[in-house]
Amino acid sequence: HEHKVVSSALLAWYDVHARELPWRISPSDRQAGVVPDPYRVWLSEIMLQQTTVAAVKDYFHRFTSRWPTVLDLAAARDEDVMGEWAGLGYYARARNLLKCARHVTEAHGGIFPDTHDELLTLPGIGPYTAAAIASIAFDRSETVLDGNVERVMARFHDIHDPLPGSKPRLRDLAEGHTPSKRPGDHAQAVMDLGATVCTPKSPACGICPLMPDCQGQLAGTAAELPKKTPK
Ligand code: ADE
Repeated sequence: HEHKVVSSALLAWYDVHARELPWRISPSDRQAGVVPDPYRVWLSEIMLQQTTVAAVKDYFHRFTSRWPTVLDLAAARDEDVMGEWAGLGYYARARNLLKCARHVTEAHGGIFPDTHDELLTLPGIGPYTAAAIASIAFDRSETVLDGNVERVMARFHDIHDPLPGSKPRLRDLAEGHTPSKRPGDHAQAVMDLGATVCTPKSPACGICPLMPDCQGQLAGTAAELPKKTPK
């Protein structure tokens, strides 16, 4: 029951407060059950792996203007893609990007596979990215676990065990909150909550949609969580 309350409160908050980002669809499309293009979701998730949202926006616009589909990207010259990537860093990502685009084109006719397990077989796609694409682009109830989700879970459930040992437990809790309806919006809602409300330092509990049920807020420990094992 509790996880249903959380996901519906979160989705209601997201419907009003979602960040408008170039790889997202409009709020009215979203509420009508439309999902974004898997190519754009994949490209954004790869770019966002080690780079901030603010830095990714312009790169994402340039890539999608120049190569609107995975077929276009697959046909690009290596040096053109590396040139557009310049400045984003972690250049192995760009090489894997091309590898993946060509694999999807040659082995799948330019159609991204729509399950977590098949996505995992693609070059450069690990468990996080597979879950993000499956939930956001294919409406599959997969749990997307990143640092934001871990922080929100540790606070909401007042978990004091330190990271990284607490990861399996935080994953379990996050899985319990993943809804069967709008799982991709749920995943992105947690990301936005973590980026704008449940921030690492001084979380804005006063405006948080989860506040009434947050155990960390009740206990007064939210701002100290998650704990980390000293290096
Ligand atoms: N970081 C990683 N994926 C993201 C997304 N879809 N929206 C916002 N931030 C993200």
